[in-house]
Amino acid sequence: MASASLLKSSPVLDNSEWVKGQTLRQPSASVVRCHPVSQSALTIRAGSYADELVKTAKTIASPGRGILAMDESNATCGKRLASIGLENTEANRQAYRTLLVTAPGLGNYVSGAILFEETLYQSTVDGRKMVDVLVEQKIVPGIKVDKGLVPLAGSNDESWCQGLDGLASRSAAYYQQGARFAKWRTVVSIPNGPSALAVKEAAWGLARYAAISQDNGLVPIVEPEILLDGEHGIDRTFEVAQKVWAEVFYYLAENNVMFEGILLKPSMVTPGAECKDKASPQQVAEYTLKLLHRRIPPAVPGIMFLSGGQSEVEATLNLNAMNQGPNPWHVSFSYARALQNTCLKTWGGRPENVQAAQEALLIRAKANSLAQLGKYTGEGESEEAKKGMFVKGYTY
Ligand code: 13P
Repeated sequence: MASASLLKSSPVLDNSEWVKGQTLRQPSASVVRCHPVSQSALTIRAGSYADELVKTAKTIASPGRGILAMDESNATCGKRLASIGLENTEANRQAYRTLLVTAPGLGNYVSGAILFEETLYQSTVDGRKMVDVLVEQKIVPGIKVDKGLVPLAGSNDESWCQGLDGLASRSAAYYQQGARFAKWRTVVSIPNGPSALAVKEAAWGLARYAAISQDNGLVPIVEPEILLDGEHGIDRTFEVAQKVWAEVFYYLAENNVMFEGILLKPSMVTPGAECKDKASPQQVAEYTLKLLHRRIPPAVPGIMFLSGGQSEVEATLNLNAMNQGPNPWHVSFSYARALQNTCLKTWGGRPENVQAAQEALLIRAKANSLAQLGKYTGEGESEEAKKGMFVKGYTY
């Protein structure tokens, strides 16, 4: 039997030691120590942002709402703009993102928006801060904090995600700017293995990022995307996903990440995009929920799926199928392509199409809101919304 004693320490840093000119709260104000009989002390950190993190995560995971991912890097945003014949200029990115955040009533369906750094510091075309517009819409602003993927030396042509250097001070500055949650996307490729090295690296990076985010008041979205690329069947995806999530939670626990203050962004368990067998929404829901039940503690408040190249309608149908019964977590969406595709095409870069494009965004947001509640019927969807968007080796 272990005996335990609780010790409260004073704040570890004062403001003068912290980022100059910023009035920040202390990153970790209290320490809980348990002393088992074996004499080896176990130290568990409890950050000063704990209550706020739980509140933020619960707000994002609120019934009938999910996340609009609009955090495409400038390079990826450029590809989107090119698809409608627009140049990749800051003005065009600003015009498009203004259209998204000002869609009337978006906050009825969307609880959080993930932004790229440029947008977090940007104003709308009519001069209001993007962040303020989101807050007025009752949407929590979030920030993509990873620095993208690079080749993982020693692996089977796999990649790892950069961005830990300087992350603490960047996160503190993002909090000051109004962000309350963060996103870090790393990927795992099934056709390339995945190797044990790639899975371990992905899981460790996510766990370090999650701990640093929580220390700075940002709820971390933990996103190990298992890419759709490949000819494998759904059972193979399930097997890999089990392995990946086991490692992710092992390292999250090792890094003392508070599970009540995180959100997950998994891929749904589907066959590879080039597999000849297709899965129905019921099959996808059955496999995905089985995975979540086996691997995700109920302390985690929300599971916000990525769309990963599925068509808009497919992503909504799959989400709806997962919400046909009660779940221990809020099961919802954090889609980029599956919310934005028809909207972007409808806009086409023309000011006279802004209203129609916003309506297209609201149609998708509402459909996914209904799917979160398990009430989406799939009726009246356009042919455009049924088109798959899978692109091999897609990056953010
Ligand atoms: P998709 O929904 O387009 O896969 O985007 C996921 C993502 O990670 C964006 O933040």
